[in-house]
Amino acid sequence: MEPQQSDESGEPGDVPAGRVRVFDTTLRDGEQAPGFSLDRKSKLRMAQMLESLGVDVLEAGFPQASPDDFAAVAEIARALQGTTACGLARCVPGDIDAAGRALEKARRSRIHLFLSTSPLHREHKLGKSRAEVLDIAVEAVERSCQRVDEVEFSAEDATRTEWDFLAEVFSAVAKAGASTLNVPDTVGYTTPAEMAGLFRYLRSHVPGSDKLEFSGHCHDDLGMAVANSLAAIGAGARQVECTINGIGERAGNAALEEVVMAMKVRAEYFGVDTRIDTRKLYPASRLLAELTGHAVPRNKAVVGANAFAHESGIHQHGMLKHRGTYEIMRPEDVGFGATQLVLGKHSGRAALRARLVALGHDPDEAALDDIFARFKTLADRKREIHDDDLDALAGGRAAGSRAAKTRAAGVAA
Ligand code: KIV
Ligand code: ZN
Repeated sequence: MEPQQSDESGEPGDVPAGRVRVFDTTLRDGEQAPGFSLDRKSKLRMAQMLESLGVDVLEAGFPQASPDDFAAVAEIARALQGTTACGLARCVPGDIDAAGRALEKARRSRIHLFLSTSPLHREHKLGKSRAEVLDIAVEAVERSCQRVDEVEFSAEDATRTEWDFLAEVFSAVAKAGASTLNVPDTVGYTTPAEMAGLFRYLRSHVPGSDKLEFSGHCHDDLGMAVANSLAAIGAGARQVECTINGIGERAGNAALEEVVMAMKVRAEYFGVDTRIDTRKLYPASRLLAELTGHAVPRNKAVVGANAFAHESGIHQHGMLKHRGTYEIMRPEDVGFGATQLVLGKHSGRAALRARLVALGHDPDEAALDDIFARFKTLADRKREIHDDDLDALAGGRAAGSRAAKTRAAGVAA
């Protein structure tokens, strides 16, 4: 790990050294992905959930994109109690003024400016020279600073930009008043080692970097968004941009729940923390799935249905002896409820016995042999064996509250 940046400026919105600020863009980069749009009521509900989760900055939308986006940003900005409300803007006066107006009622406001810096984008998208890009960026930052509490500048396609030019742009916008310098891996192209190298380079080539906040914003086109975000943090980024469930353009953005839990579970490695209440990660993931109508894949890290489920006999046996054998985080720490030992054709006698006992049965060895043989036959036919199946196999319902006994057994039925 790199030595951590000192942060002694004491300005409002500052975070202590060693803390990573979580910038959530679920309602902007996430919501702009095809099939993920939300109405205003849903956006507000999600924003309130994100605030209770503890995100530091909430990007509520792109005010100039449509009247509805403007209204959603304004409504969220008014509703947030302490979280910084942020609106996206291109480096053009109309966007900046619209973002400023939408954020007027925020307790703390931020305009997030973006402008392409890579040669490919400069030539084919903007048709602008390096010098022109520099001028446009500086002018936009100066205009934004007059409208909100803080300004973030994103160099779009930063990871395909010449490093010296990126440092030049960041130096100029920081001088003009931008306090957060964001490095988007816009097309999900970079690798963790490159990302770390780029952050180290920028921190040593942008004057006053110890007073600036460097930020990473990664897309998942090659499946490296979370790894690249963590590499940025390891190399000194103190803000990370991400979305719940990793929703976002194309393959998505870095998943907030994954980045945050990596920092928490591997705290001794990363040496940083966040102010996220991780027990709200699963509820936030569920709410987003409900509002967008897109289910979370079963095998999704941290919040998928299988994240704390075990079916194989070997794993269940280990789990019954010590949960650390096959779990690196506790389900309750992400608000998941409890570990599930799923009974199916891969399960063994130990898990079957534990579940039978939890259900109030007390088979002796011979009875367990018999139940186990019939259980395996049934499991070959059915994907999962439920409690009613077990009751039937064990010869009827046992007395007592099943739920209470299940809870007492420490694993979910
Ligand atoms: O991916 C990207 O480049 C963006 C910018 C607007 C920051 O989302
Ligand atoms: Zn993006």
